[in-house]
Amino acid sequence: MPDVELFEMGPRDGLQNEKRLIPAADKIALVDLLSRAGFRRIEVTSFVSPKWVPQMADAAEVLGGIARAPGVRYAALTPNLTGYEGARAARADEVAVFASASEGFSKANLNATIEESLDRFVPIMQQAATEGVPVRGYVSVVTDCPFDGPTPPANVARVASRLFAMGCYEISLGDTIGQGRPETIDAMLAAVLDEVPAERLAGHYHDTAGRALGNIDASLARGIRVFDAAVGGLGGCPYAPGAAGNVATEKVAAHLAGQGFDPGLDMDILREAAAFARALRATGETA
Ligand code: HMG
Ligand code: MG
Repeated sequence: MPDVELFEMGPRDGLQNEKRLIPAADKIALVDLLSRAGFRRIEVTSFVSPKWVPQMADAAEVLGGIARAPGVRYAALTPNLTGYEGARAARADEVAVFASASEGFSKANLNATIEESLDRFVPIMQQAATEGVPVRGYVSVVTDCPFDGPTPPANVARVASRLFAMGCYEISLGDTIGQGRPETIDAMLAAVLDEVPAERLAGHYHDTAGRALGNIDASLARGIRVFDAAVGGLGGCPYAPGAAGNVATEKVAAHLAGQGFDPGLDMDILREAAAFARALRATGETA
């Protein structure tokens, strides 16, 4: 039985940041490869405004084209009810709402204050509860914000607690710009754990500064056992051009295995998927 879980983010968090336009068929091929690796959850795409994120404009086509493996839940990001309805029409198994711990990032990412964004999630939560659809919640910029500077841990705890109270089954804590350090991650977790138990939390660490593995170790010490990662280290940060993206799944899997954890993944398929992901980056057409 796996004792840690990696939630694969590459097709969504990775490819949303690619400057090149990746054809839907290639995204589908990547998800199909990932479906054979042993993940229980794969974030496939997002139903957001195509004006804001043109890379995800093919969300319905991608979700509609994948070969669904038994036991795998295929997830999509949904910022509002429009997005939720699109995700459900395309048969997403679960959805995710995403909020920010800082006002600056909330405005930049959602064109809304934190409070307004939480208000928009209420109808999603209601509809999802009626339909029995699990909803995950993200909190972004949990240690550092590119607009507002260092994020006070209490602000993260407040937003995480709101999402949890609304009915999110798990709260994923995003170091969006990869500037967290084991000490700041630890301080943030200390505050969040007063509101949400460790088994309902996940770490979502970008590897911009090469500290994601250290941040994962700090989180393991606090009892966190779910981590988000992107195969091949796909992605980047729009606020730090040229920076690395999500921490690479194959790197986290090897790191965890070295500590005696078993993420339950097929390393050969992971390596194949990582090579495929890197090739996608290299050969996509210019957007
Ligand atoms: P807005 O411009 O304030 O919204 O954007 P609006 O309601 O005025 O709508 C603007 C247009 O978008 C309208 O179309 C809407 O119909 C359309 P128009 O009338 O102009 O033709 N629209 C939609 N279209 C498709 N799907 C939808 C949708 N909603 C409205 N769901 C909005 C507000 C929330 C839509 C916008 O800000 C948005 O889409 N933001 C998403 C940004 C995003 O995707 N960011 C990346 C994901 S978050 C992330 O990466 C962080 C994470 O990885 C964790 C971490 O690392 O921290 C999760
Ligand atoms: Mg992210």
